[in-house]
Amino acid sequence: MKGKLFAISDLHVAYAENRTVTESLVPETDEDWLVLAGDVAERREDVEWALRLLSERFSKVIWTPGNHELWTHPQDSCDLRGEHRYLDLVELCRSLGVATPEDPYPVWRGEGGPVTVAPLFLLYDYSFRVPGASTKEESLRRAHDAGVVCTDEYFLHPDPYPERDEWCRERVRETERRLEALAPSERTVLVNHYPLVRAPTRVLRYPDFAQWCGTELTADWHKRFNAVTVVYGHLHIPRVTWYDGVRFEEVSVGYPREWQRRAPRGRLRQILPLPVSSAASAGGEKR
Ligand SMILES: [Fe+2]
Ligand SMILES: [Fe+2]
Repeated sequence: MKGKLFAISDLHVAYAENRTVTESLVPETDEDWLVLAGDVAERREDVEWALRLLSERFSKVIWTPGNHELWTHPQDSCDLRGEHRYLDLVELCRSLGVATPEDPYPVWRGEGGPVTVAPLFLLYDYSFRVPGASTKEESLRRAHDAGVVCTDEYFLHPDPYPERDEWCRERVRETERRLEALAPSERTVLVNHYPLVRAPTRVLRYPDFAQWCGTELTADWHKRFNAVTVVYGHLHIPRVTWYDGVRFEEVSVGYPREWQRRAPRGRLRQILPLPVSSAASAGGEKR
């Protein structure tokens, strides 16, 4: 197998410029896989457009939701909320042959393999609190006071769970059970919309936003579950960092106003085989 495993996230295809970016994504070989780490779009028809396009081009597409797919947006013909919305998107993926967090984890057997590619849907639980806040409520109140409030608070409904953090904890429990069932020798690529550790959020322009960016419950998963690489998005700060010798790749595109002012960077990030440049820089930024 001569293919490569690529990853990208935060395509946000509601923006015309990002639609053009999405249309430009092509595999190098007919055996390439593509990981989509969330925030494809808000409206169901936009999500479908992107997934259909990419699933016709890549040998396998693996998707995990971002917060934006889970919004119940007033301009969306699909008015499903919370878990129903997520499961509807899972069914959409399955109809297109796209793997989801609800499916058996695909195993990459190309160069750099075998590696289990695990798309995770974990959400956040407000545990990346603002400094000094001892409770979720206090942390949220301080973010409201500072005017830094994630739009999820209005559009991402946790139904049937009472709160988003309860949905998160249930997802963490269920996902942990599945990952624990893997053989200890099995190497993994863990794919989640949010970073599994808090450290990447330290460079956010608005630090109070971190509470919508993950959970402390996954702080050791990259070590416990034998990760070769952790793939994530959401922060719109594409870069590579290393924690405990594990590569963390933020693969986001972000909004046009963000990517248009950045230095050009390959759109598709190569995850496997491990790029030579990454292997050489394993001694770089560490926690
Ligand atoms: Fe995003
Ligand atoms: Fe996001």
